[in-house]
Amino acid sequence: MAPLGENGDAAEEAMVGSDEECRPISSILIIIAMQTEAMPVVNKFELKEETDSLFPSGVPWVRYHGTYKDLQIDLVWPGKDPTLGVDSVGTVSASLVTYAAIQTLKPDLIINAGTCGGFKAKGASIGDVCLVSDVAFHDRRIPIPVFDLYGVGLKKSFPAPNLLKELNLKIGKLSTGDSLDMSPQDESSIIANDATFKDMEAVTDIVDGDKPTAEEFLQNLVAVTAALDQAVAQVVDFINGKSLSKL
Ligand code: ADE
Repeated sequence: MAPLGENGDAAEEAMVGSDEECRPISSILIIIAMQTEAMPVVNKFELKEETDSLFPSGVPWVRYHGTYKDLQIDLVWPGKDPTLGVDSVGTVSASLVTYAAIQTLKPDLIINAGTCGGFKAKGASIGDVCLVSDVAFHDRRIPIPVFDLYGVGLKKSFPAPNLLKELNLKIGKLSTGDSLDMSPQDESSIIANDATFKDMEAVTDIVDGDKPTAEEFLQNLVAVTAALDQAVAQVVDFINGKSLSKL
């Protein structure tokens, strides 16, 4: 779920009880970084690629759209890097595409789904599907008072206690950044962030395990994506007919 603003609790309290919070959710935006992760969800909901993506011309972003039960679903994938032809992963593309999609689609709810590394020392296992409670960066080190906190950028995710219980998901803190590997400095920041997960939401690799991360990630990507796809479908079913305050 998309993070709340700086004053997460106050913002949430202000929202709960408002009309927006109490009417049934009618439109959701799913953001997924990799094509391998996105296509099973596109197929499951029979979403169709929109030729008019509504995005500025020249961007590689791809929008799929469809209706499922009472929900308008848009799924946006940042597409392939125009020069290198690989998925445009990472926080820069994700931020840009999410901002643009909010401006054009004005969804009631955003689901950011994808894969992550997990820490076995914090109880994560391959294939776990988890909900993120808090998000912080581990690679924005600015050792100047207050800028240091700005760099870490801790945010709370939108709370969804009923969803968590109903779908029996794991919950934990997520540390995010732009690298698949983990430098010693990143590791210290991730520990300081008390993270169980390193980027995105279904565990493909054990960061504190014996196997090289890239190898384990590629080995598990397809199987874990199937678990992710099933979980996204369950989440969408749960959301259907509910208001934000009932999640
Ligand atoms: N996505 C999947 N595994 C990851 C990891 N170990 N770090 C960052 N992103 C990931």
